[in-house]
Amino acid sequence: MVEPQRRGEPVPEDIGTDDCLTSYTHIYSPDLLKDQVAFITGGGSGIGLRIAEIFMRHGCDTVIASRNLDRLKEAAQKLSAASGRRCIPLCLDVRQPESIAAAVDETLRELGRLDILINNAAGNFLCPADSLSFNGFKTVIEIDTMGTFNTSKVVYEKWFKNHGGNIVNISATLGYRGQGLQVHAGTAKAANDAMTRHLAVEWGPSGVRVNSVAPGPISGTEGFRRLGGLSREADAEFQSIPLQRAGNKTEMAHCTLFLASKASSYVTGSILVADGGSWMTSANDISVLLGFWSSEKKRDK
Ligand code: HXC
Ligand code: NAP
Repeated sequence: MVEPQRRGEPVPEDIGTDDCLTSYTHIYSPDLLKDQVAFITGGGSGIGLRIAEIFMRHGCDTVIASRNLDRLKEAAQKLSAASGRRCIPLCLDVRQPESIAAAVDETLRELGRLDILINNAAGNFLCPADSLSFNGFKTVIEIDTMGTFNTSKVVYEKWFKNHGGNIVNISATLGYRGQGLQVHAGTAKAANDAMTRHLAVEWGPSGVRVNSVAPGPISGTEGFRRLGGLSREADAEFQSIPLQRAGNKTEMAHCTLFLASKASSYVTGSILVADGGSWMTSANDISVLLGFWSSEKKRDK
């Protein structure tokens, strides 16, 4: 396929796999997060991994935390090699507050401080509401919404309450127009957007800012693949997006870096939609989504 002529500013470097960039051009000062520490849930893959990398390339040490310790260890090695900063892989399940508490204690023991929390862990799949089990709905709410609250509360009580800090929640635009086959994730992320504002109000006086980035379709990610991204790309559906392309992980990391750093020092309770304008113009066609869903189900059998 011939790439359409692109107008506008150049798109930052990205790689479609869970690897670090082979080249990177700073757009912010390389010292923007110098000697800070960030705790990133789901930092071993996809958008979370690229957030870890871009933060580390700005002088930050990181903890990447999720369930699959082998994958986290591999990611941490790559991240440290690419950036020269420390990255500690820790096992937790955001549905289990005790596992979060143990990981935050370990972070403070090893790195001595905590400046930034990125709530990026999430679970999702396409499923129509009438086929979704009670437990399927509950599972996504528990990971996305309760997981975000659990992690925020543990980090606040153990460090941010007395030292201040920055929380960035990775959201989604699914709920804005009632995206088909996404009642579970759309509901969870809408609740998270409310949580962003509630916690911004309550924790602002302690010097804690709370904001969100809401990505659109981001290439080279599990979320993109699960929601039929590859077939949509093949269909040239991106022409319906104002910016006419998928976003990339580095772009999401730059938005997150803005909200997690002093570049946004008077911003709290805000949701930065980073989707190329997609939510306003993309199709929300139930029959197309059902077709994709049933073909995936047949393939899995
Ligand atoms: C319908 C499903 C399902 C599916 C699981 N379930 N997968 N229902 N369709 N594809 C149901 C199960 O049948 C079960 O219900 C319940 O959900 C729990 O399933 P488990 O497998 O036991 O859960 P668990 O092991 O905790 O795994 C959680 C998970 C899994 C969400 C189901 O997929 C996961 O770990 N995902 C993490 C990675 C991920 O999803 N990445 C994408 C994030 S992207 P029953 O009733 O049978 O017990 C994202 C994108 C946003 O959020 C927007 C993009 C534009
Ligand atoms: P991903 O690579 O699958 O990232 C999700 C991460 O969450 C994984 O690293 C996973 O690691 C972790 N995780 C899942 N359940 C967990 C649990 N119970 N406890 C701890 N960690 C858990 O997918 P992604 O596409 O990059 O998504 C990252 C974020 O962007 C998510 O919040 C997603 O909703 C959001 N988003 C993505 C897109 C997109 O196009 N990709 C669009 C909008 C929003 P383990 O398996 O090791 O636990």
